[in-house]
Amino acid sequence: MTQHSIKTPLESVFDFDYSVRFPQLDRLYENAKRDQWNVSTAVNWDRPISGPPLNMNLMPICQTQVYRSLSQARQDLLGRKFAAWRLSQFLHGEQGALMVAAQLVDAAPDLDAKMCAAAQVMDEARHVEAFRKYITKLDRIYPIDPTLDRLLRAVMAHERWEPKYTGMQIITEGLAIAAFRFMHAQTGDELLKELLEYIMKDEARHVGFGMLALRDAVRKLSPTERKALEDFAFAACDMTITKVTDGVPRDGFLSYHQVFDEMEIPIGRMREEMRENQGWKDAERAMEKQFNSMLFVDTLIPCLRQLELLNTRTQPWYEQLGVLALAA
Ligand SMILES: [Fe+2]
Ligand SMILES: [Fe+2]
Repeated sequence: MTQHSIKTPLESVFDFDYSVRFPQLDRLYENAKRDQWNVSTAVNWDRPISGPPLNMNLMPICQTQVYRSLSQARQDLLGRKFAAWRLSQFLHGEQGALMVAAQLVDAAPDLDAKMCAAAQVMDEARHVEAFRKYITKLDRIYPIDPTLDRLLRAVMAHERWEPKYTGMQIITEGLAIAAFRFMHAQTGDELLKELLEYIMKDEARHVGFGMLALRDAVRKLSPTERKALEDFAFAACDMTITKVTDGVPRDGFLSYHQVFDEMEIPIGRMREEMRENQGWKDAERAMEKQFNSMLFVDTLIPCLRQLELLNTRTQPWYEQLGVLALAA
């Protein structure tokens, strides 16, 4: 069974005021039309993968004896499969974004926002196309990670449009941008680099759209609705962060284990080796910190502050999560 349904009690809103009331959104819509690109022709798909899609040497787990005892061919295959797993999560996220953008066309109360969301629907379909095509060239598509699945379902099933905007346009898009930048910096394959550059340009527009549409909306919420939105934003942030304790990652996106299991490489033994080496544990923590800093310091914290969802009431939660210290 490849189809999974989610009940979404969404209110569809007509807007019969056809004047442009939000010129900034109108400009964003113009940019979206101008910046359309075609996955089939923008890049040359005929060329072979030009380098390792992911630099596994950067991963502390690949310093272990278990990893080093693998043949070069097995190491290369693991690298390809690991990249395919990570890109598969991007792909599932893109399908989620496609569906949520379509929901926003329906539920956003203002026509200018509906039109921006409609342009985004096409962008997200293009991203699905790009990742699907690239992953199948590389290896195979892996199932959705349970954490990502929970996040997407929470956003999709919400009956209000403001949490959808916050969950998708700010938090999930922010996560996507950080993950794409991270992968872009690591990949040795030119085709993947080019694709990510095209996609990141679209995604930056989507965060801009979310911020513009939400700014006024948040101010108009009743105190109870506002609190609920603050709670939702924090819960979504909490879900996306990976915590590493004693060299073992917990929470976050951990289903990559299936790649090791599939190749019968004992990930448990690798982790045991890791636990005994302070240097590797520190390196892994440093890597998580670098990613979380890209996600929270560069993207999420400024957006949440601007929207006043990070405020005196919610600040202690973010402090406890450790993301405000990253910015210090
Ligand atoms: Fe996207
Ligand atoms: Fe997007």
